Amino acid sequence: MATGSKYNQSVGPKSPQVLVLVGATGDLSRRKLLPGLFRLTSAGFIPACRIIGVSLDDISVDEFRKIARGALEEFSTRKVSEKDWSAFSEILDYVSLSAGASVLKAAVKNAEQALGGESRRIHYLSVPPNAALSAVRLLREADLVERSRIIMEKPFGTDLTTARSLNAKLHDVFSEDQIFRIDHFLGKEPAQNILAFRFANGFMEPIWNRNFIDHVQIDVPETLGLGKRSGFYEQTGAYRDMVVTHLFQILAFMAMEPPTALEPQPISEEKNKVFRSMVPLDSHNVVRGQYTGYRSEEGVNPESDTETFIALKCQIDNWRWAGVPFYLRTGKKLAEGQRIISIAFREPPKSMFPAGSGVGAQGPDHLTFDLADASKMSLSFYGKRPGPGMRLDKLSLQFAMNDTGLIGDVLEAYERLILDAMRGDHTLFTTAEGIERLWEISIPLLETPPPVRLYEPGSWGPKSIHQLIAPNAWRLPFERAWRAKSEG
Ligand code: BG6
Repeated sequence: MATGSKYNQSVGPKSPQVLVLVGATGDLSRRKLLPGLFRLTSAGFIPACRIIGVSLDDISVDEFRKIARGALEEFSTRKVSEKDWSAFSEILDYVSLSAGASVLKAAVKNAEQALGGESRRIHYLSVPPNAALSAVRLLREADLVERSRIIMEKPFGTDLTTARSLNAKLHDVFSEDQIFRIDHFLGKEPAQNILAFRFANGFMEPIWNRNFIDHVQIDVPETLGLGKRSGFYEQTGAYRDMVVTHLFQILAFMAMEPPTALEPQPISEEKNKVFRSMVPLDSHNVVRGQYTGYRSEEGVNPESDTETFIALKCQIDNWRWAGVPFYLRTGKKLAEGQRIISIAFREPPKSMFPAGSGVGAQGPDHLTFDLADASKMSLSFYGKRPGPGMRLDKLSLQFAMNDTGLIGDVLEAYERLILDAMRGDHTLFTTAEGIERLWEISIPLLETPPPVRLYEPGSWGPKSIHQLIAPNAWRLPFERAWRAKSEG
């Protein structure tokens, strides 16, 4: 495990960090941010750090520490030793929003004095979109813009107008290079592996285009319901919560041209070119769904039209991808939790295999990326079944990060991204231009959304998803499961 502090500090930020965590007692903070910060600090990735929790709750520092301790017990993937906890609890402070800008300013000053030397400020806004601007105003009032970076949570606006206005207001206070718009899917190790796989190897590039690829699926079904998030979700829905953010970002990694360097600007340029080439969404190519029972959940309008499921077909109209459909799907309370990208290759132009040999019977050859934390990849193909005659079976080459013994080194997405933001590295963050373009292609769908269709919890969504993808078929549920760890 990579815990040697010398090594870790070399990948971490150079200066001490004061992190202002707005929304510190909320769901994301408890599930991901506090456990992630605990790991980063206790493993020595951040040389020196103070964290100031901020939220609407009128609680004391000790109460905030208790919340943090509870969050680590519940959500940390590693054991929390007393020694590490006591070191972590000492760097935590808390300011209630009602205390106002001057108290926040004093708390940051205090933290900076304790750290000594020239520290940087990092503000993490883990708040719903409608609260983001008031948090930005608070930071300006508290005079905390200088030497700072700001991490913004998604969804970044709710349509083109709101995204433009949010960007403009944000730019009144922070410059673009201070802003880190987070999309945690890009921080997932397997997402970065798409870049490694595509650009560190030569063998895929010649076939990574419309001449060889028939269609692509990005499929992220979730078994989760909404828990306590229905208030947020009612305003957001599956399209804004998952597609404009996570799924389109993954699509860009999959579809972009090779960047001139593995650096923020060249990567953003190539991603933005993909977004520019995307054809505005046609509502006829979209299935919106809602699971039965959603409307009777607490905080949900009994006549709600919010979708808890979405499947759509989109097109990237450029030389590499013209004519190749991209199918995206995601939703809540579905049959399985999966995160896959599946690339279907064109079938051979002519088959010389005897009728009934099985060639083509199990769909096209596929390259599949599993974006789950344990990163898996599979390449399926037809091969000969041993024995007489010529019978063909679908076989596969599979890789699982688990088999490398290095899985313990994987940083959780938020850990990775917080560390990158502290280092000022924008590579895995989204840009104002990219996000605005995605809202632009969303206009036809947002203006004339298709009706929501009900689906049963535990299913794969409304029945019309099959028409959407015909004559192809959804890869999930898999006909053949991933292989368990290979035996020696
Ligand atoms: C979040 C969405 O951004 O991503 C959630 O708001 C969703 O609705 C979650 O469940 C999925 O992320 P992960 O990393 O758990 O797959």
